[in-house]
Amino acid sequence: SLDDQVAISSPETLAALRTAASCLKDLFPVAFPTETVYGLGAIALNATAALKIFSTKGRPADNPLIVHVSSRRMLQTLLPQNYTLSPSYELLIEHFWPGPLTLLFPCDHSLIPDIITAGQPTVAIRMPSHPVARALIAVTDAPLAAPSANSSGKPSPTRAEHVLNDLNGKITIILDGGPCEVGLESTVVDGLHEDGNIRILRPGGITVEDIKRVLVKGFSDANTPIPQVLVHRRDFRDDALEQAPTTPGMKYRHYAPSVPVTLMRMSDAPLGIEPLSPSAFLQDLKRSMPHSSDILRVGLLMPSDSILMKSLINDTTIQWHEFPFGLVSEPAIIARRLFDGLLTLEREGVDLILVEEVPEENEGLAIMNRVKKAAGSSQWITIP
Ligand code: TXA
Ligand code: MG
Repeated sequence: SLDDQVAISSPETLAALRTAASCLKDLFPVAFPTETVYGLGAIALNATAALKIFSTKGRPADNPLIVHVSSRRMLQTLLPQNYTLSPSYELLIEHFWPGPLTLLFPCDHSLIPDIITAGQPTVAIRMPSHPVARALIAVTDAPLAAPSANSSGKPSPTRAEHVLNDLNGKITIILDGGPCEVGLESTVVDGLHEDGNIRILRPGGITVEDIKRVLVKGFSDANTPIPQVLVHRRDFRDDALEQAPTTPGMKYRHYAPSVPVTLMRMSDAPLGIEPLSPSAFLQDLKRSMPHSSDILRVGLLMPSDSILMKSLINDTTIQWHEFPFGLVSEPAIIARRLFDGLLTLEREGVDLILVEEVPEENEGLAIMNRVKKAAGSSQWITIP
């Protein structure tokens, strides 16, 4: 529901939440689980608290933060007076909140510190569905600004352990709520343009297909046209394609472990690029890849029914590290495991990670958005 009622399961949980809330009120950031990824939270309406998020993550100051609320009432306290939500926003909130959808709202700059919006005229707000996130905001009784709880540029954490590995020594509290269900960040939506259309600034946990479905159904009886859903597609081979900015954060290199990542593509290769057979690719790899131990260690993030993976692992002169990744037909599971896979394989000490492309539909759009940023290079492969 969209109200403040949160169930807290035990006295220990309540005590942990109160400790975290008092840390937040002392203006120190706290890491907490959300349904998407772990967040690094601070009191949003306090610039000093928000500043500590930037220093802890090493985050560029021009990248704005999402403000998290636990109730519709709390949302209202952040919006300009007399502002009424558009019918599209009402529909999106009704269907997707609490959940992995972030909406841009006009910003009341007298209320929201500049450091949160980083010079944008708007403020991004979402209501997470994770019970620990909701309870933390409700117990603190204040909106929390929270980016993902990782050092800037790294894959986002989807387990408490990932946060500990990355930010140990820089923060004092990590609330452990288990692995994140969604595994990729929220979808960032801008519905504030005069044309009434819905712009997807960052694909994420709520799919474009879901958003379209809700708008088409919700507007079917209205006398106004159905808003269009516009997606900024970005191909990392051709930055010039993306003249229109998506979110300020999207221009940075992102989601990259310290190990090189190669995106393995079976779709049509662009002109001038000759696809390789799996065995020719492996030959090249063994020749070119510097590796520390005597055997090349390669991490695989490929669906368990991948044809490409079957042909690669025939080569027993490479030490393969397969991370369980779900079936081709289960993009939601691939989404859930992607960041965990990158971080786990990095920690296993592989020399290289190969990620197989997935179709850019449903969760696949957000998966490929993250993978293209994580990958330093792509390789086109022909499967006989
Ligand atoms: O799922 C999520 O959204 C997670 C969890 C913790 O809630 N948070 C998250 O935050 O992913 P972060 O900071 O890693 O990503 C926020 C994204 C960035 O791309 C940022 O540029 C964009 O949202 N953003 C924030 N405020 C914006 C604004 N006013 N206009 C446009 N983009 C904005
Ligand atoms: Mg992030």
